Amino acid sequence: MSRRHPDCHGNLNNTPLKSAEANCCLLFKLFGLLVFLNATLSCPSSCICPNNSSLVQCHSLSLQDILDNVPHGVQNLSITHSNITVLQASAFRNLNNLTSLVLSHDNLQVIEAMAFLDLPNLTTLDLSFNTLSYLADDAFAGLSHLQVLKLNQALLEPNQILNSPWTQHLQNLKTLELAGNDLQTFPMAVKDLKNLQILHLGNNSIQRLNEPEISVLRSKKIRLYFSPNPIFCDCHIKEMVYWFQNTSQTLDAQQLKCFGPPNLNSSLVMGLRGDHLKCSNEDLETASYVFFGIVLALIGVIFLMVLYLNRKGIKRWMNNFREACRDQMEGYHYRYEQDSDPRRSNASTGI
Ligand SMILES: *[C@@H]1O[C@H](CO)[C@@H](O)[C@H](O)[C@H]1NC(C)=O
Ligand SMILES: *[C@@H]1O[C@H](CO)[C@@H](O)[C@H](O)[C@H]1NC(C)=O
Ligand SMILES: *[C@@H]1O[C@H](CO)[C@@H](O)[C@H](O)[C@H]1NC(C)=O
Ligand SMILES: *[C@@H]1O[C@H](CO)[C@@H](O)[C@H](O)[C@H]1NC(C)=O
Ligand SMILES: *[C@@H]1O[C@H](CO)[C@@H](O)[C@H](O)[C@H]1NC(C)=O
Ligand SMILES: *[C@@H]1O[C@H](CO)[C@@H](O)[C@H](O)[C@H]1NC(C)=O
Ligand SMILES: *[C@@H]1O[C@H](CO)[C@@H](O)[C@H](O)[C@H]1NC(C)=O
Ligand SMILES: *[C@@H]1O[C@H](CO)[C@@H](O)[C@H](O)[C@H]1NC(C)=O
Ligand SMILES: *[C@@H]1O[C@H](CO)[C@@H](O)[C@H](O)[C@H]1NC(C)=O
Repeated sequence: MSRRHPDCHGNLNNTPLKSAEANCCLLFKLFGLLVFLNATLSCPSSCICPNNSSLVQCHSLSLQDILDNVPHGVQNLSITHSNITVLQASAFRNLNNLTSLVLSHDNLQVIEAMAFLDLPNLTTLDLSFNTLSYLADDAFAGLSHLQVLKLNQALLEPNQILNSPWTQHLQNLKTLELAGNDLQTFPMAVKDLKNLQILHLGNNSIQRLNEPEISVLRSKKIRLYFSPNPIFCDCHIKEMVYWFQNTSQTLDAQQLKCFGPPNLNSSLVMGLRGDHLKCSNEDLETASYVFFGIVLALIGVIFLMVLYLNRKGIKRWMNNFREACRDQMEGYHYRYEQDSDPRRSNASTGI
């Protein structure tokens, strides 16, 4: 090999020898190819690739740097503590064997439509510990084999995100984790996940489960993790408590505690009986119904009394009315007879 450093444009310092130049160039190109192959097969710098690159773990690197260098056969890829911010359409390419993708603590805020389109074998996706404020309706398009989706402490705008039809592409999803998202209500979007089996809703701000939500959980036999949540223990949670006490679908309901009203604060929800569960305005409501009934009865009585006292006047009025009716009927009868003749003559001329 030449000691001098040649480049492929023929600018050797020696007198140019055509064949030597060609060999040199070929060698150089081969070297380049080797470097390229090495890059695609080996571990990206700042990543750890134990066990033959089936698992790649990266920290604090730009997504593009990682994806340019990650081995194409990778099965488990974990990119954490990076600053990804926006996941664009088809963000991941040529990773057909990827089954598990972890993108947590990545300051992820926006996931655009078709972001995971080229990951046909993905079964686990962990997007926990991010600040997602926008999730495109088709963000999960192509993830028809996804079984586990983790979104713990990941949603900055939980209500907006959970009301969009992002569930439509996840027809094989079995486990959904939504802990620590400050959800105020049960995420009804889960009723569209046909195969959902396990739902994590702990550490949110849900005060109770209502009847329609319980029937979704019951009919789909979804197993629920629900603790802790700030349960408000009034008459509205009776359904929920009965269900908890009857079902084996709630896996941690034993630990649920009341956060109000003050006299039940910190009581165990499962320990409550129906007569513990009162609404402060429940008595008021019954009282107002009773009051309303009495008023109605009074009005009825007064009406009857007026009728009774006025019975003579009413009789006179009825007679007047009957007479007026009779006059009216007679007038009508007379007019009918007058009208019927010309009509008959019209009909006969028509034939
Ligand atoms: C290495 O990967 C193979 C599958 O690719 C797996 O069976 C094995 O358990 C892994 N070993 C370690 C130490 O992770
Ligand atoms: C990689 O795989 C080969 C065989 O496929 C095996 O001999 C070697 O020990 C593996 N290396 C690591 C780091 O697991
Ligand atoms: C993907 O996995 C299959 C089977 O395990 C293997 O034959 C193929 O080479 C892998 N693809 C890549 C790009 O490594
Ligand atoms: C993360 O990336 C965004 C835009 O890509 C940038 O504005 C922001 O300063 C970055 N944050 C950090 C901590 O690097
Ligand atoms: C990945 O999916 C393709 C088709 O979508 C399939 O042919 C291939 O075998 C899968 N690879 C693995 C490792 O499952
Ligand atoms: C790869 O991810 C799967 C989940 O898809 C998990 O079961 C497996 O343990 C992971 N393997 C490694 C080596 O981390
Ligand atoms: C519960 O979620 C909040 C954010 O909503 C988080 O700050 C807190 O650490 C979480 N607690 C646990 C025990 O995970
Ligand atoms: C089970 O539910 C029914 C109504 O659905 C309720 O009457 C009954 O008390 C519940 N059983 C227990 C043990 O709570
Ligand atoms: C309920 O109890 C907790 C401690 O168990 C306390 O921190 C909280 O202030 C109490 N809330 C009310 C409204 O009494």
